[in-house]
Amino acid sequence: MLPQIAFLGAGNMATAMITGLIAQGFAPAQLRACDPSEDALLRLEAAGLTQLSTSPESLFADVDLAVLAVKPQVVPNALSSIGHELSAGAALLSIAAGIPISSLRRHVETDVAVIRCMPNTPAMIGLGASALYAGGDVKGEHRALAEQVTNAAGTTVWVASEDLLDAVTAVSGSGPAYFFALIEAIARAGAELGLDEKVAMSLTLQTAMGAAALAQQSDDGVAKLRENVTSPGGTTEQALLSLQSNQFEAIVSEAVRQCAARAAALGKEFG
Ligand SMILES: NC(=O)c1ccc[n+]([C@@H]2O[C@H](COP(=O)([O-])OP(=O)(O)OC[C@H]3O[C@@H](n4cnc5c(N)ncnc54)[C@H](OP(=O)(O)O)[C@@H]3O)[C@@H](O)[C@H]2O)c1
Repeated sequence: MLPQIAFLGAGNMATAMITGLIAQGFAPAQLRACDPSEDALLRLEAAGLTQLSTSPESLFADVDLAVLAVKPQVVPNALSSIGHELSAGAALLSIAAGIPISSLRRHVETDVAVIRCMPNTPAMIGLGASALYAGGDVKGEHRALAEQVTNAAGTTVWVASEDLLDAVTAVSGSGPAYFFALIEAIARAGAELGLDEKVAMSLTLQTAMGAAALAQQSDDGVAKLRENVTSPGGTTEQALLSLQSNQFEAIVSEAVRQCAARAAALGKEFG
């Protein structure tokens, strides 16, 4: 029997994961979704899904994996609507930011395996970076199924403790916003130097993509790649010296640290 996966919430992230799973060979008949929005369901109907509903009724009863893909503030109500239906052999994968496993557990049967995921928005174009955490009680088959779901929207790493998801939030969960801020700042500076705004943005975006792809594909580490473009006395060195004298590394480090602290505080509020 092929594994059955049902999504509670069929918004941006769920749709990206579902289309990714189909592209990776999952049959639409293995996938189900529930969402109050007819439009969201119509998009999935176009992708081939037939088990779609505006109400969770009976959609989750015999699934191997339920994916919780609603906004954090509606998690308690949404999860309570399926908690009694999930069988003891099922697993719950929550992509809802910041909600601890202990809090999720209050809305499901205690035997249901619970896995937490911290995704990021590039998942919407299949380039996400997700981190997963599961307790030692979660079986290998459930871990593998959860990983298939997150791999369908990008790459996946596992972390060894739930607390580390706060660090993941600070690096990759919120990370796209740091890069957007940097892209905006570079493009704006380019425009101030006289470039057409669109040209400055286009050059900056291609440079960001090129630098990330080069770093991923190269055998050299990122530090070596940086050194390779930094000739002594040259232009890049001048820019990096300016960043250094303005405490660039300390500023970034503090921002990432504050993000992790905020993630931990929000987790306690939910917990
Ligand atoms: N780290 C990150 O940056 C990051 C990135 C993306 C997502 N996430 C997490 O991923 C989760 C999903 O995000 P998203 O962007 O996909 O959100 P989304 O596009 O808003 O999708 C959520 C969907 O769930 C529906 N919904 C609301 N209440 C429901 C219920 N009781 N039962 C079933 N469906 C319900 C919503 O319908 P209505 O619109 O009609 O309410 C909406 O279609 C969030 O919890 C978010 O925290 C994190």
